[in-house]
Amino acid sequence: MKSLEAACKLSLRKEHRTVCGTEIKGMAFIDFNGVIKQYGEDSAAIRALDEASFQIEEGELAVILGASGAGKTTALNILGGMDTATSGSVMVNGRDITKLSERELIKYRRLEIGFVFQFYNLVPNLTALENVELASQICPNSLDCASVLKKVGLGGRMANFPAQLSGGEQQRVAIARALAKNPKLLLCDEPTGALDYNTGKQILQLLQDTCRRDGITVVIITHNSAIAPMADRIIRFKSGKVTSTEVNENPTPISEIEW
Ligand SMILES: Nc1ncnc2c1ncn2[C@@H]1O[C@H](COP(=O)(O)OP(=O)(O)O)[C@@H](O)[C@H]1O
Ligand SMILES: [Mg+2]
Repeated sequence: MKSLEAACKLSLRKEHRTVCGTEIKGMAFIDFNGVIKQYGEDSAAIRALDEASFQIEEGELAVILGASGAGKTTALNILGGMDTATSGSVMVNGRDITKLSERELIKYRRLEIGFVFQFYNLVPNLTALENVELASQICPNSLDCASVLKKVGLGGRMANFPAQLSGGEQQRVAIARALAKNPKLLLCDEPTGALDYNTGKQILQLLQDTCRRDGITVVIITHNSAIAPMADRIIRFKSGKVTSTEVNENPTPISEIEW
């Protein structure tokens, strides 16, 4: 039965399926399972994640919600292959990334993950287009950088340096940089945390459009609970644990969200 399960795992999505009369629970695109992340030893030990578990389906927009220090960034960094778990398993697209070698992890980060940070992290002495090209150059399946910049609404700003762009525009460049790699998974750590209200909403709209239009699975971390209703799935973190996961059948349009 186990090998049959393995053979079928790529095609298993969303629901329970029946194989040879036996019901097999479909494997989620992301299955974060009993993950512990511990810093330090013994009495000085801190558990940034304390047996955290959640699932996300392919093509969903998920919001991870929690107060500062709840373990959100740690979880996202582990999901993105930038950090490693102390124990537990992290299945992404049918593979346990906690089992990857350092070399495989580099490939995973390069080819499969787009990352968007709160403070954009653009290279200041490169233009918008060059910033996007920098990331696309490490990926064989990258998209046309100018087209991606047009798609995020910056067709006219490609030759500008980051300092010549507003915060919202810089975040668009950062999103374009992540998308140009043509990733399966877009991970965003407080992407509107440094932006004003209206600009933040526009960025959330862009992230939702990206999810809906391009079918990319998007995970957004936030401490702002007002953002949660836009998500297909809301995962709540507290003290390193997942306290609830909620599937939202009717996400609220971002234009109707207020905070
Ligand atoms: N490198 C580290 N060493 C020690 N403690 C850390 C380290 N990184 C994070 N932590 C701790 O882990 C907890 C979770 O942090 P983090 O994942 O950044 O939370 P969040 O993103 O929800 O604010 C916090 O208590 C933080 O201080
Ligand atoms: Mg954080």
